Amino acid sequence: MNRYLESTPKPGQINSYLEGLYPQSFKVAEEVSVRTQTAGLPLIHVPPIVAIFLQFLVSSRGAKRCLEIGTLAGYSTLHLAWGVGSSGRVVSVDKDPRVNKVALESVEKYRVADRVDLVAADALQWLKDTTNETANLSGEFDLIFVDAEKSQYGELFNLAVNRLSTTGLLVFDNTLEFSNHSVSNPADLSTATKAMRQFNKMVASKSGVESVLLPIGSGLTLISKIPSQR
Ligand SMILES: C[S@@+](CC[C@H](N)C(=O)[O-])C[C@H]1O[C@@H](n2cnc3c(N)ncnc32)[C@H](O)[C@@H]1O
Repeated sequence: MNRYLESTPKPGQINSYLEGLYPQSFKVAEEVSVRTQTAGLPLIHVPPIVAIFLQFLVSSRGAKRCLEIGTLAGYSTLHLAWGVGSSGRVVSVDKDPRVNKVALESVEKYRVADRVDLVAADALQWLKDTTNETANLSGEFDLIFVDAEKSQYGELFNLAVNRLSTTGLLVFDNTLEFSNHSVSNPADLSTATKAMRQFNKMVASKSGVESVLLPIGSGLTLISKIPSQR
């Protein structure tokens, strides 16, 4: 092994270092985690660096209209809300009826409830039933973040891409790892992993869009419409 790889810091070390740089997001993660567990919900929110990256993407692109699919207790929702600023809007959809109350507590605690619409619905149906107008937004979404049922990613892609503005960004979480599945492990031949590999292949070769799968968190895929199609 070369000397660089031998001295590569461990993920725990990197996390501690990042916590020192961005203490606020780590503190919020801890606070939201307590609320998540108290409500009996699974502790599966994005790691702080992914939340920070999402906020950076939203704010640096000047995105004002965001859609999130998969709210849970609102940890990523908060970062999207901070990214859009006080003149922006975030619609966050979750099919689990328990999450609405918990996520509302999160957005109220951090005083961004006025820019967030929490929707209790299955996103597949909601995307079919709504237009951008009925979703309380004028125009399409500037950024759509998908962190929902992994087996539905293909269908969610097809529906979400139609709701993306011409310069918008579509982001999928967990495209490298989820639950105990890992797409980069050749020994993992489970149905769920094969489906995610197929999704990644579809996205990478899809005409009309360009994409990149970043090895951040559990894998984050960024997708945009290619300029000639805009
Ligand atoms: C990983 S959690 C979301 C975590 C959240 N994005 C965060 O980082 O704070 C996934 C959520 O997606 C929701 N979900 C899964 N499939 C869905 C669907 N088809 N429509 C709406 N919500 C869905 C689940 O109920 C769950 O609360």
